[in-house]
Amino acid sequence: MRDIAGDNTKKDLLWHLQGNWAPVEKELSELNLEVKGEIPKELNGLFLRNGMNPKSGHSDHWFFGNGMLHGLYLENGKASYKNRYVVTPYLEKDLNVISSFGDLTASPANTHIIEHAGKVLALEEAHLPWEVDKDLNTLGVFDFDGKLKGAMTAHPRICPETGEMFFFSYSMMGEPYLNYYRVDSAGQLVQSEPIEIPRPVMMHDWSITRNHVIFMDLPIVSDMDLAVTTGSPFGFKPECGARLGVMPRDGSNKDVRWFEIDPCYVFHSFNSFEQDGKIVLYVSRQQEAMVGGFKEIYGGESTVARLWRWTIDLSSGEVKEEQMDDGACDFPRIDDRRIGLKSDFGYSMQIETEVDSLTFGNHLYKYELQSGSRIDHDLGSNVAGGEPVFAPSSKNSEEDEGWVMSFVHERDTRKSKMVIIDSKNFESEPVAEIYLPQRIPYGAHGSWMPNK
Ligand SMILES: [Fe+2]
Repeated sequence: MRDIAGDNTKKDLLWHLQGNWAPVEKELSELNLEVKGEIPKELNGLFLRNGMNPKSGHSDHWFFGNGMLHGLYLENGKASYKNRYVVTPYLEKDLNVISSFGDLTASPANTHIIEHAGKVLALEEAHLPWEVDKDLNTLGVFDFDGKLKGAMTAHPRICPETGEMFFFSYSMMGEPYLNYYRVDSAGQLVQSEPIEIPRPVMMHDWSITRNHVIFMDLPIVSDMDLAVTTGSPFGFKPECGARLGVMPRDGSNKDVRWFEIDPCYVFHSFNSFEQDGKIVLYVSRQQEAMVGGFKEIYGGESTVARLWRWTIDLSSGEVKEEQMDDGACDFPRIDDRRIGLKSDFGYSMQIETEVDSLTFGNHLYKYELQSGSRIDHDLGSNVAGGEPVFAPSSKNSEEDEGWVMSFVHERDTRKSKMVIIDSKNFESEPVAEIYLPQRIPYGAHGSWMPNK
C-alpha cells in the first residue's frame, strides 16, 4: 500500500500523530496574513475549525486528542489568525479516555464548533458542550441551565426556518441508549425524550427534515465480548442489522417509525428533506467500519465512504438505497441555509483509497445531488484537503451562491492555507489563498460565523 499520510512519517508513531496529523505546540495571534488573490469583500466573519491536537504530543486514538480551535478572521478583505485550546479538565489535568471516564465535563472538546442562539459551543460526542467566545477564550461547560444530563452529539442540526437546534446523545452505559433533544431559537432546551434502540451503538451523525428527525441505528456496536476478544469496546457487527428511525420533531419514542436498511456505516450525512410523501437522505456511506475494532476506523476499500441516496417511502415503508457516485469522500457539507430542506448541492472532501489509514485527498468535490454528478476542484499535487464549508455571498443569495472554504495543507512546503473557492466556478483556481502563520493539523469540523 502507498503511504502518503505524512510528510515526516515516522513508522513508530500512530498514523494520527504523523505528518500533518501531528499536533502543533504554539498558540498564536497574527494579523494581516499573506493573501494570494483577493478575499471577497462580502466575507466578513470568523471561520472556526476544531480538531485533535494532543498537548502531550501523544493520544492513544485520533478521537482522544485535546481540542484546538483554529480561527480565521476575515474583515474587509484582510485576514488574521488565532488558535487556542479549549480549556477543559481533560486538558488541564492531562486526562485520557480512562482517567476521564464518568466525568461528563471532562471533554476533549475536539470534534465540532457551532454557533446557536448567540453561544459558540465546542462539541465532542461523549461529553457536555463547552462554551467559548469568538476570541477563543473558554467560558465554561454548557449544560443548558442544568437541563442536559448527558452527552451531546458533535452534529446537532439547526433549522434555518425556525432557528431551533436539534440534537441527540447516545450512551454505552445503560438504557436509554439514545436520547433526543430540542432547543428553541432562544437557546432554551425545551424537549428531552428517551428513545429505545435494541443495543448501544456508536451514533455519530443524523439528519433532520422540515417536520422530522432521522436517527441512524447502524451496527458499530458496543460489546464487552468484543472488548475481551479484540481489546476494543466497539466493533462492526452487521448481523445486528441497520435501521433508520423517523420521528416527528416534537414526537417521542412511541412515534418513531423504524425502517430496515442494508448493514453499513455512515459517519456523516449531507442532508435530508421531504418530497412527495418520501424522505430523501444523502449520506456518505461506507460498507463497513471499525471491522478490526475501535482503533481501526479505516482500513481500505470497504471502509471508504461514497455518496448514497436513501429514499424512505412513508406510505409503503420501503427504502430505496442507491449509490450515486464512485468517488471516495467524506466530511460532507451543504449550504447550511438548506438544512432539512430540498438541497441541490453538496460539498465533500476526497479520501484516498489505496492507503491503510485515513488520508485526505487533493480534491474537493461538489455534487449535484439529484443526479450524483460531480465537479472536482484540484487543490494541486501533494496538497491535502480539509472539510469544505460553504459561506453564502449574502443572507438571501440562492443556494450555492457563495464560496467554499477549507483549510488545506501543502505537503511539500509544510505550509497550511485557507482556500476560498467561488462555488459557481468550482473547478477554477481559488479566488483567494490565505497562508497561515503555522501548520494547521488535519482536523475535524468547522463553521463559518458571519458578522451580524
Ligand atoms: Fe463528524
